[in-house]
Amino acid sequence: MISRKILTGAFAAALALSMFAVAGCSSGEPAAEAGGESGYVADGLPGLMPEDHEGRFVSMGADGCFNCHGADEDAYPILDTAQPLPADHFAGGSIESYELDNSRAECITCHAQG
Ligand code: HEC
Ligand code: HEC
Repeated sequence: MISRKILTGAFAAALALSMFAVAGCSSGEPAAEAGGESGYVADGLPGLMPEDHEGRFVSMGADGCFNCHGADEDAYPILDTAQPLPADHFAGGSIESYELDNSRAECITCHAQG
């Protein structure tokens, strides 16, 4: 029992470290580019999901997130009170793709529940 707890703790720590590494990477050159097209200025860190987002990823998936935070022909973001997805979250790094980049589909690996 005890050793399992320690293992779980070690895994959580490793996961936290690797998530930090991911965030660290994206604060490099790509993030500097990301603001260009969208007007969004990245601070390099993924924001936490607000409290009212609890359970949303499980119930609606990345498409659900995209339907508020993403873009379509008429609006960017689709819901005007939602923070717009940075350009680097779109396929090909372009908002006009109106599609999510596959590498961003697992939103909650970077955007934790706040
Ligand atoms: C690989 C990590 C990663 C994934 C996966 C990811 N994001 Fe982000 N996201 C970031 C980072 C880092 C930023 C801020 C810097 C930037 O522009 O890249 C950000 C910025 C944002 C912002 C702008 C507000 C803020 O928090 O800074 C929104 C909204 C957002 N992401 C939503 C999403 C949604 C929705 C998904 C899933 C469809 C998603 N993200 C997937 C890393 C990620
Ligand atoms: C029904 C529309 C809607 C959906 C669906 C939605 N969001 Fe949001 N999201 C918002 C709004 C509006 C805000 C800003 C207001 C607030 O803080 O509640 C927000 C805020 C955020 C923020 C905080 C950004 C910042 O830097 O302050 C993140 C991160 C985020 N959402 C990610 C997600 C992810 C990931 C999903 C999918 C699991 C998702 N959202 C689904 C409307 C939505």
